[in-house]
Amino acid sequence: MSDASTDSLVLSDIGVTFGGLTALDGVSLSAGSGEIVGVIGPNGAGKTTLFNVICGFIRPDSGTISYRGQAMGRHQPHVLAKLGIARTLQGVGLVPGLNVVENVMLGAQGKTRSGFASAVFGLPRSSREEMRLRAQALELLGELEIAEHAWKMPTALPYGVQKRVSLARALIADPTLLLLDEPASGLSSDDMAELGQLLRRLRDRMGVLLVEHHMDLVMSTCDRIVVLNFGRVIASGDPDVVRADPEVTRAYLGEEVRTAEGGPGA
Ligand SMILES: Nc1ncnc2c1ncn2[C@@H]1O[C@H](COP(=O)(O)OP(=O)(O)O)[C@@H](O)[C@H]1O
Ligand SMILES: [Mg+2]
Repeated sequence: MSDASTDSLVLSDIGVTFGGLTALDGVSLSAGSGEIVGVIGPNGAGKTTLFNVICGFIRPDSGTISYRGQAMGRHQPHVLAKLGIARTLQGVGLVPGLNVVENVMLGAQGKTRSGFASAVFGLPRSSREEMRLRAQALELLGELEIAEHAWKMPTALPYGVQKRVSLARALIADPTLLLLDEPASGLSSDDMAELGQLLRRLRDRMGVLLVEHHMDLVMSTCDRIVVLNFGRVIASGDPDVVRADPEVTRAYLGEEVRTAEGGPGA
């Protein structure tokens, strides 16, 4: 594991309540460069809440967050890009009126001065910068093996392709840490396997925090895993240790029972 204070995202003792409901209860974890850290847990475990805390969408009631030794207390979402952190959200969230390349270029907004948004919306801009960004976007689309869709509108594309576009949009910011919330949701098992391989390749360039419901993707991809259940860390460690943990099995089994009895599952 990397040095927790200098090149990692470090969460200490994070607590979040919604009204009377405790969504996160004393959650601590770290994610460093060059490693893929998985956060798993059954539905309702608190994964998205944790993700939103890191992104600055939810302010924790207690605890601290730092990145590379810098405290991120009470940060706003736009601070992430400046710190070198990029994210995708659950779903895809692409802009329907822009083509694939333009959507990807939007991801660079936080780091460019003239702002790509101005380029897309026809305002004065640096065309040299726009050309550079377009080239980078096309390169990323090639890396994600969806270059043939570059000039199409995203709404016309299969869901799996849209998910890759949203990933490319995060990657164009050249993050040192990539945060992913359920990147595998809605993907076919082939797409999911390819996503796992892609994340392993990305690990050379950045740290990855993978918040994911799918146990198999996390097990096959992550270097370390943190398991949440009812807002608490119930296990953490390398995949083999977590897989063998009876409390983890129980947490996931409980979910199957609930799903079977309680109508439609996730
Ligand atoms: N905005 C909110 N208001 C009230 N309760 C919420 C809110 N967001 C999440 N919760 C609750 O917090 C718990 C954790 O939810 P969530 O973080 O979405 O879990 P997961 O992503 O692991 O499925 C759940 O019980 C959920 O119902
Ligand atoms: Mg969720």
